[in-house]
Amino acid sequence: MSEYAASVVAETIESKPDCKLGLPTGSTPIGMYKNLIQFDLDWSNVKTFNLDEYENISHAHPESYHMYMRKNLFSHVNLKEKNIHFPNNEYDKTIKAEGNLDLTILGIGHNGHIAFNEPGSALTSKTRKVKLAEETIQANSRFFKTVDEVPKHAFTMGLQTIRESKRIILIASGSDKWDILDECFNGNVTTDRPASMLQVHPKIEVFYAS
Ligand code: F6R
Repeated sequence: MSEYAASVVAETIESKPDCKLGLPTGSTPIGMYKNLIQFDLDWSNVKTFNLDEYENISHAHPESYHMYMRKNLFSHVNLKEKNIHFPNNEYDKTIKAEGNLDLTILGIGHNGHIAFNEPGSALTSKTRKVKLAEETIQANSRFFKTVDEVPKHAFTMGLQTIRESKRIILIASGSDKWDILDECFNGNVTTDRPASMLQVHPKIEVFYAS
């Protein structure tokens, strides 16, 4: 799964050196980034757009998504600082002006969230500040000393911009993700399970590793 996702990112960069990538954090994509940094690729014209970041966290905090990306990808490749993007007020406008994302890699939360679009997020939701669901806070507490340290809010790319990505690869690992994957991709399309809205995307691949 990780090798495949990395190879698709690599092929995308090779075939379109100025491609726009939507990138995830979390434990699932670590293997993908490990594989990806082994490729000899020219990232100098690539633009990256991260899916999300916690609110009120220093970019230097070891659990910030800025730091995660630096550690797992940015410090290993020749991506230009100015081409690195995280959610801000202009995110949807900027991405649209770039012609939308060429490829977005997604993980999935136990409640079906993608990026930090928690259950109830609208199909047309924009980049915005969100309140994290209690189960997301609990799940992410494994990265912090205590659950109280987990930020309660985050900034996320909205479902609209994710859905407009030309290609999507969703990766999930661990038997604890099986039920939600099954519900999202074999069940009804519903805002209760945000990933289910991707069922109708014309170019999505979903990977599961137990
Ligand atoms: C993180 C993100 C989240 C994670 C999801 C799964 O950038 O977009 O939706 O993909 O919370 O996280 P892990 O992989 O840690 O289980």
